[in-house]
Amino acid sequence: MASMKKFIALFLVAAVLQWGGSHAQQPYVNQQQLACNNNNNITKGYSCNSFQKSCLSYVTFRSTPPYDSADTIAHLLGVDPNLIASLNRFPSKTTAVPSNKLVFVPVNCSCFGNFYQHNSSYLINKGDSYFTVSNNTYQGLTSCQAMEAQNPFDPLKLMVGAHLLIPLRCACPTYYQNASGINYLLTYIVTQGDTVSAIAKKFGADAKRVMADNDLSIDTLYPSTPILVALSNLTIQAPETNPSPPNERKKRTELIFGSIIVACVLFSALGFILFFLWRKGKGSALGEVAFNASFDDEFGNGMGAREFSYNELSKATKNFVEEKKLGEGGFGSVYRGFLRSSNIDVAVKRISRRSKQGIKEYTSEVKIISQLRHKNLVKLIGWCHEKELLLVYEFMPNGSLDSHLFKGRSLLPWNLRFQIVQGLASALLYLHEFGDFCVLHRDIKASNITLDLAFNAKLGDFGLARLVDHAKGSRTTLLAGTIGYMAPECHRTGKASKESDVYSFGVVALEVACGRRSIESRYDGDQASLVAWVWEAYGNERLLDVVDKKLSKDFDLLEMECLLIVGLWCVHPIDSMRPSIKQATQVLNFEAKLPNLPNKMPMPKYDIPNISIIKTSEPCSPNMSITVPR
Ligand SMILES: *[C@@H]1O[C@H](CO)[C@@H](O)[C@H](O)[C@H]1NC(C)=O
Ligand SMILES: *[C@@H]1O[C@H](CO)[C@@H](O)[C@H](O)[C@H]1NC(C)=O
Ligand SMILES: *[C@@H]1O[C@H](CO)[C@@H](O)[C@H](O)[C@H]1NC(C)=O
Ligand SMILES: *[C@@H]1O[C@H](CO)[C@@H](O)[C@H](O)[C@H]1NC(C)=O
Ligand SMILES: *[C@@H]1O[C@H](CO)[C@@H](O)[C@H](O)[C@H]1NC(C)=O
Ligand SMILES: *[C@@H]1O[C@H](CO)[C@@H](O)[C@H](O)[C@H]1NC(C)=O
Repeated sequence: MASMKKFIALFLVAAVLQWGGSHAQQPYVNQQQLACNNNNNITKGYSCNSFQKSCLSYVTFRSTPPYDSADTIAHLLGVDPNLIASLNRFPSKTTAVPSNKLVFVPVNCSCFGNFYQHNSSYLINKGDSYFTVSNNTYQGLTSCQAMEAQNPFDPLKLMVGAHLLIPLRCACPTYYQNASGINYLLTYIVTQGDTVSAIAKKFGADAKRVMADNDLSIDTLYPSTPILVALSNLTIQAPETNPSPPNERKKRTELIFGSIIVACVLFSALGFILFFLWRKGKGSALGEVAFNASFDDEFGNGMGAREFSYNELSKATKNFVEEKKLGEGGFGSVYRGFLRSSNIDVAVKRISRRSKQGIKEYTSEVKIISQLRHKNLVKLIGWCHEKELLLVYEFMPNGSLDSHLFKGRSLLPWNLRFQIVQGLASALLYLHEFGDFCVLHRDIKASNITLDLAFNAKLGDFGLARLVDHAKGSRTTLLAGTIGYMAPECHRTGKASKESDVYSFGVVALEVACGRRSIESRYDGDQASLVAWVWEAYGNERLLDVVDKKLSKDFDLLEMECLLIVGLWCVHPIDSMRPSIKQATQVLNFEAKLPNLPNKMPMPKYDIPNISIIKTSEPCSPNMSITVPR
């Protein structure tokens, strides 16, 4: 950050005057802009809500080769290069400026249809899509939805060499803003780690007003999306000679939390005693591989994860304020944070102080996940066991799979659903087959799968995971998991295995295809158990009856059939009849034929309760770590 500041030679000063009322809202476009299938009106532009049909406005652009001079940026954005050069005090129109410099670009903004925009044009290159052009080339100044609405091309067949009309997002001040002295609206592109407060500060604006102007209720922004900043004047000053003084240490905060810290120290002492006891006792667990490495070797393995100080994480999450909370799990809460040192958004899991299980979970998670690296596994960035047990992960802007499938966060289209299951299969293949040891995840479920910006699946929550030796029969003695995702034999033997992970994977596959939970109390009789219901439909050759109705028949028939049948194969009640994750992956990738399954769902080999009889409120056994889906 400090070195980046050096590069930024110009500083922007904006004087913003007060204004009253909330009549000027242009809703923040949020992450919907990044999901091209989402066609909400706000993704298309700011609405023409002003008395002015056109006006001068400003947009921001971060220099990046080849767009790093007034000439090249002006060409991309369809404006006069002289205006960019003079406003930003570039030495000349052709001088290349350092990368990632914030450049201010004046545009003529006018109303077209219902939306304000500034037209530019772009020559299509090989490999371009509406998404890459809007997000990567134009940095979010336009959206795939706006481009699709105004261009004649099929989104899948952009013609190389043809021109696209690029509607750049801009807006004009409303009557109320004009009356309170606002002259311009700046379309600022949010970058990794930005918050409304930080943006407001940058432009000398009031954060509450920026929130109101963008109809925001929480300070959560998404990189590569635009936000409006109302300005009375835009002046760019000469390079500052003195570096700005570092932020003052907030000693008061430390005083305020003094009493909490005492409690934390006591807690962490207890935590470490329990932790070392657990480590000692753990070596004897059947089939498990104890690590002989020292504590530090184990944790700091050169894979990029590192130890954080409690202060750093507490700052990153604004002291774990409620509004930063992303969710709550079995062993504690997860908060959104921003790491100033590395300029990234993170999710910080704070393990509940009350939970002894939590300490086990913490060590298990750090130990296992820090050994792993795969594009479909959530990345552990670091940990902290000073005062509290904290785990730091990369932040996943699209939340968890269950929020989309079951809680209506978005309607995931078929191609993304299929891609998510393929990604999950790929992660599981890596866990089971690729390392020196096999990793059993033991808690695969929709709520443990998170989605990145491009909706790639990332399997997380390794709190119940165990390392097992490939040779020594892949079994552990601890029963764990979530009702509805647990293989029938687990209830009998209390042992997890590769087969039981494959079972849970199969349940997720069926949930994705059917758009409903594996066990849902609102369905009665035949439909209560997803597995039994889908199997019956398969037997009656009416497989498509179970497909998620919300997809409105918009899916690829072959892929759907493949997903449902692979799902059923994986949830075969007899564990030895299930495929390995490798076989399942091959079928999902259309590299192997679909299996033939019996028309009637086979009974498990032993007289044990069928999964469909188990109620969600009934734990298999006390003292075992079982969670019930919420
Ligand atoms: C979206 O905009 C169209 C006009 O472009 C309008 O007819 C429609 O009502 C709008 N939909 C919503 C949900 O605002
Ligand atoms: C806006 O339009 C006017 C006249 O059409 C033109 O002189 C001016 O250069 C334009 N401004 C920008 C920023 O392109
Ligand atoms: C921008 O493009 C649209 C669509 O082609 C066109 O109708 C509109 O007149 C253009 N606006 C300006 C200011 O040129
Ligand atoms: C969107 O663009 C930004 C840079 O503007 C890039 O960092 C990010 O990876 C892009 N998102 C996707 C999903 O490609
Ligand atoms: C408000 O709008 C009027 C008419 O366009 C303009 O003359 C005046 O300068 C504007 N005032 C501000 C503060 O923008
Ligand atoms: C904006 O600031 C510049 C320089 O500080 C000043 O010359 C100009 O009059 C100001 N414009 C407005 C509209 O306040």
